[in-house]
Amino acid sequence: MDISYILNQLGEDRENYFNAVAPPIIQTSNFAFKTVADFRNAMQDELHAHLYSRGNNPTVEIVRKKIAALEGTDDCLVFSSGVAAVTAAVMSVVKSGDHIVCIESPYSWTTHLLTQILPDYNISTTFVDGKEIKNFESAIQSNTKLIFLESPNTFWFDLQDIKAVCDLAKQKKIITAIDNSYCTPLYQQPHLYGIDLIVHTATKYLAGHSDVVAGVVCGNKEIIGKIFQHQFMCFGAIPSPHDAWLLLRGLRTLPLRLEKSVNTTEKVIAYLGKHLKVEKIIYPFHPSHAQYDLAKKQMKRGGGLFAVLLKTNSTEKIELFCNTLERFLLAVSWGGHESLVFAACIKKNNHYPNNYVRFYIGLEEADVLIEDLERSLEMI
Ligand SMILES: Cc1ncc(COP(=O)(O)O)c(C=O)c1O
Repeated sequence: MDISYILNQLGEDRENYFNAVAPPIIQTSNFAFKTVADFRNAMQDELHAHLYSRGNNPTVEIVRKKIAALEGTDDCLVFSSGVAAVTAAVMSVVKSGDHIVCIESPYSWTTHLLTQILPDYNISTTFVDGKEIKNFESAIQSNTKLIFLESPNTFWFDLQDIKAVCDLAKQKKIITAIDNSYCTPLYQQPHLYGIDLIVHTATKYLAGHSDVVAGVVCGNKEIIGKIFQHQFMCFGAIPSPHDAWLLLRGLRTLPLRLEKSVNTTEKVIAYLGKHLKVEKIIYPFHPSHAQYDLAKKQMKRGGGLFAVLLKTNSTEKIELFCNTLERFLLAVSWGGHESLVFAACIKKNNHYPNNYVRFYIGLEEADVLIEDLERSLEMI
């Protein structure tokens, strides 16, 4: 199925809504039936029927179909945040007494789930340096039920060899999950390597306009059916139909936005890579990245998020640099239309080097961003 068919046609049932090109926001909590028999049938298959919007809402359903198709999986569930999607995916696999192997430094609230919440339910996690497959091998215990990946992760941009991890997990009958937010399904398709569960913060590139918080879990029919029946229906972390509609609107232009963001990122990196005040570029598609070959093997391209280590360690200078940038907003998150900057010195008690600065490149023109960087770098 080609991407433009998925984004423009798949899941759209226009005859059911006056042939409107843009689908309506079906802002309803529940649905009525003509007969008891219809009502009964719907109750038996809440994942597909339209019974109650905590289960399946038609506006959300269009998004489900499109994202599942982009990821190449049978189905997808849409949540009200990426963290809700991660939590549901993880908790659908493990129970008391089980063990998880996770890469070190996944997204901060994923770490929180694994280190601060799950231990209360007698579920333990070993964090491993995911760059080496042997680290997964040695961390696996007889009660390991889940391997959780994030390739690349969004601070150090470390990769895992997804195929090698999947082969190992299959051999040991362990479920695999990956946070695929950085690449989006356009630049990396983990199902090709045998990953069971793919999660995204749809807040980032998928929605792409910094106006909605959402998340998704993709997988096969059986696994999604199970998550729907338990975590999805019980946590109730569903997007509103309006948020699903915004996500759908954002999704339509994903290929264009992603391409523009990454093309500009490459130009900005080429500039920063030569700058005397920059010590190091941290980006999976930069030849200096230790896993550049693996990146080329399993990803189509890098994303719009990367980091640098500046030559200076002075908090004062780094603050001056960030404060004087005019085209980069000082903010968390990424994946929207706007370029962003985040510096390690913003966060108290963090374990990043003080000269670490992360950029997200949005949809602005490269020369405008480069000029802005040039001016602020000159000041420090
Ligand atoms: C890689 C990654 N995964 C998950 C999340 C959580 O997503 P959300 O903020 O939509 O809950 C984020 C948010 O920044 C993220 O960067």
